[in-house]
Amino acid sequence: MAKELVIPYHVAIIADGNGRWAKRRKLPRSTGHYFGGMNIAKIVSYANDLNVKEMTVFTFSTENWNRPKDEVDYLMSAPLDIVKKHIDKITTSNIKIKFVGRRTKISNDLIALINELELKTKNNSGLLLNVAFDYGAYDEIINAITLMKDKTIEEFEKNLMVKTPVDLLIRTSGETRISNFLLWQISYAEIYFTKKHWPAFSKRDFLKAIKIYNKKDRRFGKIKEKEKEK
Ligand code: IPE
Ligand code: MG
Repeated sequence: MAKELVIPYHVAIIADGNGRWAKRRKLPRSTGHYFGGMNIAKIVSYANDLNVKEMTVFTFSTENWNRPKDEVDYLMSAPLDIVKKHIDKITTSNIKIKFVGRRTKISNDLIALINELELKTKNNSGLLLNVAFDYGAYDEIINAITLMKDKTIEEFEKNLMVKTPVDLLIRTSGETRISNFLLWQISYAEIYFTKKHWPAFSKRDFLKAIKIYNKKDRRFGKIKEKEKEK
């Protein structure tokens, strides 16, 4: 019988390549973002089926404000349209949604939608989905430091927006950098890079990343029991 897969507790995703996916198909970048958004729903639901307990997905970074205005406008309005259309389906799945990121620059409409989603899913018992929107790790870390009194690691981690360590980090579209995402939480993460553009990243690709994760020997700075000198 095949050995059972160890499912990572927390999977983080840098969903990159929406623009390149669209360009290759001679479509506007916004269409790439639309299909990218739909793919997040598909992969998160699959991860929940596989019994992944937590996921953090990078959807808009604190640096993405520097893109052309029409693209930023689309990225700010698309969640309102897409999520509103699917709100019943989202809130009746057992996924729990939390938004991580700044609440200072985004519109009141978006904040209202975030509050509604968080409230309607707060008693769900399935996968916790952290949607990183206007998120940057520098911002998260500085905030956590500002809140510190005791100056312990435990206190610092409690002050972070994403509180659990990442086991597996996936970045699509061939880039091999972290781009100010979860800098603290990925300290011991296994990292899987793939050339696939995010809208084309399939359930099969996700399962492949988990299979590769299963081949890793995670030592957390220790050595294997059998390597110890007698
Ligand atoms: C990721 O796709 C989505 C966001 C960052 C919002 P990109 O928009 O970065 O796609 P590429 O990198 O231009 O292909
Ligand atoms: Mg990109």
